[in-house]
This record gives sequence, C-alpha cells and structure tokens, in this order.
Amino acid sequence: MEYVGLNQAYDYLMNHDLVAIPTETVYGLVGLATDQIAIDKIFTYKQRPADNPLICHFASIQQIRQYVTSIPKPIELLLENFSPGPLTVLLDLKDQRLSPATRGQACLACRIPANSLTLQLLEKIRIPLAAPSANPSGLPSATTAEMVFEYFQDYPGGILEFDQSEIGLESTILQYREGMIHILRRGAIGENEIKNVLPNVEVVSNQSHTQTIPGAKYRHYSPQTIVYQCHNLSQVKANSVLITTKNTSIVDLVPNVPVIYVAKTNNPEEIARNLYQSLIQVDSLPVEQAYWYVPELDYTSSLGQALANRLSKILIV
Ligand code: TXA
Ligand code: MG
Repeated sequence: MEYVGLNQAYDYLMNHDLVAIPTETVYGLVGLATDQIAIDKIFTYKQRPADNPLICHFASIQQIRQYVTSIPKPIELLLENFSPGPLTVLLDLKDQRLSPATRGQACLACRIPANSLTLQLLEKIRIPLAAPSANPSGLPSATTAEMVFEYFQDYPGGILEFDQSEIGLESTILQYREGMIHILRRGAIGENEIKNVLPNVEVVSNQSHTQTIPGAKYRHYSPQTIVYQCHNLSQVKANSVLITTKNTSIVDLVPNVPVIYVAKTNNPEEIARNLYQSLIQVDSLPVEQAYWYVPELDYTSSLGQALANRLSKILIV
C-alpha cells in the first residue's frame, strides 16, 4: 500500500481497490460497500472469516436513512448527540445494494466517523464505505498509518495518512430492541453517556452476543506473543518484556527485562490510545512472553470499561 491524498484515495475506491482511512477510534480498511470486488479484497487482505459482516461508514444521518427501513427515536437521539463519533448502531437493512458488506445479516451496522479527512472522502464519494479495523484478523487494530503500512505493505491500495487515532479502541456497538438499548460492544460511549441523552430508557450490556455480532466469537486484539496479566513483579521470567506505565514503580525489576511504556500515566484514556501500538511492539522483540503490569488502573469511566473488556480478551490470567 502507498500513502495517498484524498483524490488518489477516491480513484482507488472507484477502481474496486482498498484504502486505509483514519478514524477517531482505529484505522479502517475500506472499500465501497456496494462493490463485491472490493469487499472480497477486504476479506482476503484481512483473512477475515466469511460470515463476519462489515460496519458501513456514512457522511451523515440523512445518508444512513436512505439505506435502512427506519431509525427508532432513541437511536436517532443518540446519533444526533454522538455523531460524528465512536458510535455504531444496528438498524434494519432496506437497501440490498449493501448486502456485500452485511454478509446476509438483516441488520446494517452504521457509523459516522469523526475524522475531517475521512468525512471529506465520504462526502466526495457519496456511497457508504464498508470498513473493518485495518489489521489482519486477530491482531491488534491499527491506530497509526505506520501500523497499517506494516500490516499491509505488500498489498495494492492507498493509505490516507493522518495522526494517531485519538481514542484507540473500536466504537461502541448498540442496538435498540424490545424497548431497551443493548450495548453489544463496549467503547468510549457507555451507559452514562447514553443515560444522559435517554434518562428513561433501560440500558443493558450483553456479555454474550455472538448471535447478534458474528465477530464476537473470534479471537481479537492480541499479538502473537502471549501476554500475561502480572500482579507481582517476582513472576516475571527471563526472556520476557514488561508492558507498564511510566508512573508505575518498577524499581526492583528483574534485570535484563526490556520495558515497553504504554503510557506516561495510569489514565485509561492515555492507555487506550497507545494499547494496540504497544502490543504489536511485543512481536518485534526476541522474547518468549510479555507481562502486563499496570496495577492501578481506574476502570470506572465508559472508556475504562471498554479498556477492561479488551484487556480481558488479550491477557492470560
Ligand atoms: O471503531 C470501529 O468500529 C472500527 C472503525 C474502522 O470504524 N471498525 C471496526 O470494525 O471495529 P470490525 O470489523 O473490526 O468490528 C466490527 C464488529 C464485528 O464484530 C462484526 O461482527 C460486527 O461489528 N458487525 C458489523 N456489521 C454487523 C451487522 N450488520 N450485524 C451484526 N454485527 C455486525
Ligand atoms: Mg476488528
């Protein structure tokens, strides 16, 4: 893949090719959502299981309306409050032109990403863009243009270059069903943010939702190297790397163990932003295992809970 500007990105997409796009959550690997050839390439590049549908990215709520049967009022309010932003909503698909992206699901996953460059591309192209996170299946999502390049340099296509993704974790996925908001994947928007907009609607978080979200059953976010949760530095073996923060005290560290600093502080926002980049660094080191040592993490915010959710899928306890 090569670094491109907006016009070249547009040309790639119109020519059935793929482009990596920056978003505020993670980078996406996009093709036109209506284009079976491009969608097939996404599944090949990522080695993504064939039943796993793709989120479609839109320029506006108005554009979403054209492709779904209706938008329930509570979802409309959430979209108005949090879009563009880290929110994906499942709605009933009306327009079968998007079926290459939905893989036979009755629902369409819709999101308006908050990135100025990507929004310009969406406005120029006027067709929804289907995008999974820009990583080979199972590995950490790319949060910088360089990570995308490392993953996909041998493939054709463009990378729309921008800064590091601000949030660093994937969007919240939710659905309105039986009068309730169901959180299907945790992200920066959680119960508190939803309750502020919809004080009278019940919000539930489903732990096991592989029937609603096909991707939930697969391995995610992890480097090749095993990463252990570490509560006590005396557990750390030789031939390892330690992942920690700069303000965590590691004075009596086992000698000769390299350290990756995921953040300066233990602030969940800073850790979330750098998490995937730090994890992928582990695989470039000649070590047998890694240890995650961040003892005082505050998991109370929505983003903190999303971070805890991702760590629970990555770390071996
Ligand atoms: O922040 C994000 O959401 C990023 C950026 C690029 O927008 N995208 C992302 O896509 O995380 P991906 O493919 O890595 O994860 C999307 C998840 C998958 O687990 C998939 O199964 C689920 O959303 N999904 C997508 N479309 C769906 C649909 N129509 N019905 C049910 N689940 C769907
Ligand atoms: Mg993904």
